[in-house]
Amino acid sequence: MLLARRLHTLALLKPDLLANPQTVAEIISEIQRTPGLQIARRAQVFWTREEAERFYDEHRGRFFFRRLVDYMTSGPIEALALRGPTAVTLWRQMMGSTHPVRMRVTNAGCLRARYGLTDTRNSFHGSDSPQSAARELRLVFGEQITREMEA
Ligand code: TYD
Ligand code: MG
Repeated sequence: MLLARRLHTLALLKPDLLANPQTVAEIISEIQRTPGLQIARRAQVFWTREEAERFYDEHRGRFFFRRLVDYMTSGPIEALALRGPTAVTLWRQMMGSTHPVRMRVTNAGCLRARYGLTDTRNSFHGSDSPQSAARELRLVFGEQITREMEA
């Protein structure tokens, strides 16, 4: 059961990307062409403030929290359950780290460097561990995905 859970991660394409359907199509295609990564589930969600705050609970009280919740509730989000033997770390590598402007210097090919705008408007989310992935996948896709991940 735990081994199966380790195969999945949650990727989010944040609201600024969804403003441009062509960009979303490009990114989905790039994921589909990545060896070792499959899209297991896909859904468009539009969070309330409460849902965004619950998702980012660990950051409550940080200086950027309100800005982050404003951004994440500014439009729909594309949620992807990604599956692969190293899905959590592979997707984090593909995204790059939090600050797109820094990434343009150190890791210009990563997704955040190419599409992200600022530290908050960084266009992508990826779970940071298999434990976070299980929690986040359940929040976005509901209990049913937990059972599918165990299958
Ligand atoms: P965090 O979990 O630290 O980053 P990551 O998404 O790379 O795992 O922070 C969650 C989100 O909070 C981040 O994607 C954007 C926002 N954020 C800021 O706006 N400013 C900041 O300085 C940090 C650290 C995060
Ligand atoms: Mg994080």
